[in-house]
Amino acid sequence: MIANDDVVDIWTIVVAAGSGSRFGGPKQFFDLRGERVVDRSVRIAAAHSAGVVVVLSAEVLEETGPSRLTPGSSTRVVVVVGSDTRSGSVREGLAAVPAEATVILVHDGARPLATDEVYERVLLAVAAGADAVVPVVPVTDTIRRRSGGVVDRADLVAIQTPQGFRAEALRAAHAAADDATDDATLVEAGGGRVVLVDGDSDNMKITDPSDLEIARLLLARRGETP
Ligand code: C5P
Repeated sequence: MIANDDVVDIWTIVVAAGSGSRFGGPKQFFDLRGERVVDRSVRIAAAHSAGVVVVLSAEVLEETGPSRLTPGSSTRVVVVVGSDTRSGSVREGLAAVPAEATVILVHDGARPLATDEVYERVLLAVAAGADAVVPVVPVTDTIRRRSGGVVDRADLVAIQTPQGFRAEALRAAHAAADDATDDATLVEAGGGRVVLVDGDSDNMKITDPSDLEIARLLLARRGETP
């Protein structure tokens, strides 16, 4: 647990080493109102962190060079090469987080619309003693099993990032080198306490080209320029 008088050193790992196979290309480098998707994700993470580790694929790093990250920010930014799986990419990022970090956030580079409010809710819950914090939104679709039968959606939530962790809990969870589609699942499997906080319906993961169009519209509605 993080005591109030501890100096909290927050680092964020932004994983952006996916191939974008469903998108048909590296979606994290497409333009979002004058800023690349990953650059926006990193810029917002940097506003809440002492340092950010950006995880990119070797191919992307070779083709595009390091991201034009956080101009004007005093936050440290480190770029590392990722791995074949999301969990593997998180582990590569984790290896670059300094030992003094007490809180580590993990964020999908493909979620450029994460808000400051979501970051704040996640960080507050970690400070209050959670091992892992997951922002969630209600499931609005009716969910049916392929094998038959509808699942009661009242008990279901869709998970988002940034997820927040007591640094030791995240390091311990990844020590076993297992794979999961998110990190809180690994912490929970090791007996850690997972707390849910409200996410944001705009905090979508850019998966299909139409998601990028929706993200552009949402930013235009907010009247945001980079
Ligand atoms: O594949 P998925 O949509 O779950 O990816 C979520 C995030 O994890 C994306 O930002 C993606 O770039 C990243 N990722 C990664 N390394 C992988 C696979 C996914 O960094 N091998």
